[in-house]
Formats: sequence, C-alpha cells, structure tokens
Amino acid sequence: MIERINRLIAEIESLKAVSLEEVEQLRLKYLSKKGLVPVLFDDFKGVPVEMKREVGQLLNDLKNRANNKIEALKSGFSQDAKASSANLDLSRPAANFQPGTRHPLAIVRTQIIDIFARIGFTVAEGPEIEDDWHNFSALNFTADHPARDMQDTFFIATNPDILLRTHTSSVQIRTMETTKPPIRMIFPGRVFRNEAISARAHCIFHQVEGLYIDRQVSFADLKQTLMYFAKEMFGENTKIRLRPSYFPFTEPSGEMDVSCNICGGEGCNICKYTGWVEILGCGMVDPNALENCGIDSQTYTGFAFGMGIERITMLKYQIRDLRLFFENDVRFLNQFRGAI
Ligand code: DAH
Repeated sequence: MIERINRLIAEIESLKAVSLEEVEQLRLKYLSKKGLVPVLFDDFKGVPVEMKREVGQLLNDLKNRANNKIEALKSGFSQDAKASSANLDLSRPAANFQPGTRHPLAIVRTQIIDIFARIGFTVAEGPEIEDDWHNFSALNFTADHPARDMQDTFFIATNPDILLRTHTSSVQIRTMETTKPPIRMIFPGRVFRNEAISARAHCIFHQVEGLYIDRQVSFADLKQTLMYFAKEMFGENTKIRLRPSYFPFTEPSGEMDVSCNICGGEGCNICKYTGWVEILGCGMVDPNALENCGIDSQTYTGFAFGMGIERITMLKYQIRDLRLFFENDVRFLNQFRGAI
C-alpha cells in the first residue's frame, strides 16, 4: 500500500499538460469519485490497525499534493488565457518600474578609483575601528597633538587605545607595515569625527587616501599625479595650485586647490569669489612615518594625499548641503540616475 501511494505521489508530481482540457482530464483521472486517489482511500479499510496512522497520513499528503498540482496546472493556463484574450491593449504604457540608483558618493568613489587605476594604483581597505598606533602614533602625531583631542575623535569608552579612525591615513600605515616598496595604492573608506552636523560637516564621511613609495619619488611626481587627477575629475581646463600646509606625517605638506569648476576661475559664491576651491591635503611621507613601518627612509621616499569624497561630489554636482548624502531621500538620489 505504502509503495503504491508513493508511486502515485511521484507520478502526480511529474504531471504536465498542454491545455486546460488536458488538466481537466487529469483531474478526472486522479481526483474524480472513481479516480486513482479516491480508490486508494477505499483500500484504506483493509490496512492493518497498527499501520493505519502512517498510511492515513501518507494518503492525506497524496490528496493534498494532487489537489495542489491540478490547481497549479490550471492557474498556469488561466493566466495565459488572460494574456491572449482579444481585449489586450498593447499600446498601454508599461508599469512604472523604478530601478534603484547608485548613490552619488559611490559614483564619485568609483570615478576616483578608475582615474588612479589608469596610472597603476591598486585599491586596499583597512578597518574602521582602529588603534592609536595606526591612526595617530605611527603617523608621527605627538602624544599631545590637538587632533587626538576628545572633541575630534570617537574613542571606545572602555579602552582609550581603540577609536573610530578619523582619517584613512591609518591604512597607509597598515600597508607600509606589510608591503615592501614599490607601493602605489589608494585607500577609500569611511571616517568618523566628533563634529556637530551641519551643511558643511558630518560625523561620518568618506575619504580616499593615496600612497606612492619607491626609490627617488619626488615632489614633482606628486604634483604631476595630482594635476592628472584634477583634470580627469573636473575637466581638461582645470588648473591646480599647491599651498604650504602642515600634517604630522608629511614633510613638506601641502593643500591643493583646483580652479573653480563652476565659474571657471572668474569668482562665484561656491569658491567665495576666489576662483579656487580646496580639495585635498598632501605631502612627501615623513621619514619618521616610513621608519615606524620598517621602511628604510635612506633608500625610499614617497608621497601621500588624502581627499574627502563628499567635498569632491559637492563640487562636481553643485550640492550645497552635505546632509543630503545621508538622508537617502529618493527625490535627491533619483537625480543621479544615468550617471555612470
Ligand atoms: N589625513 C588628512 C586629513 O584627514 C588628509 C591628508 C593630508 C592625507 C595629507 C594625506 C596627506 O595622505 O599627505 O585631514
């Protein structure tokens, strides 16, 4: 009996039909009063008492499966029948299907990666939860440097040695610790600072760090690389200028401005009528930072740079409030449909 039921289940599961009429024939064959399934139910009387429970369950299962199968076959045809009906209006506009859009920060991050990939930079990432060594000490921040101040850095309450990285420069250190020069890499990622949220600042934002270490790398290489980047990102006519600055991990250090891509250098409210906008910090890697990672600073030199993705995206798309990036309002996001 059990074997018969199982055979019938397998048979029913593999049923196929090419028309509604065929489904009806199958229904009659298996489920009508004299059909194969009810006939088995009739035989149930002869099943020995101790097997009734098992066989009964199996029979019910068989009946359910048969019903479901017939219904499934039927509904397949009724949909087809609807679709082929004469009053189908092929001129009706399709349902408005809205695919998602890529986030503007992701679009620009990809552009930055592509631009540097074309001149041989590869990509790596590091952890967002860092220790003091990688975020500060190895980068030549002295113990009392103001950037370590509680006001800027989110420390983990139970362990002041652990913090949320305040910049992607920490990945420079991790890379130099484990990779022998030449190193030509960029490091995109999220960074965290204890800042009041406003149109110009957020406690979470994104950076891309760049690092190039080899024999005889010079400031001219840095300048040429950044000029290439600026022209690729903002257009062939973009000019750059480097101003002296200070970062503990680079010497000399600089900040780079690009000619304002909104007014072309004429002066507008985006560039505060200066014709220039600042986009990144950079410099020659300080020998202390190299030595902290076991790289011989007599043999090797290098440059580094770090830029904020939000800032570059705001300039590129003329976005005036940084908070828009984090609100995920589809009316904002949908404006980037079609941008690579
Ligand atoms: N880490 C710096 C910041 O967050 C940016 C920076 C400046 C990165 C100079 C660098 C650099 O690699 O050389 O403000």
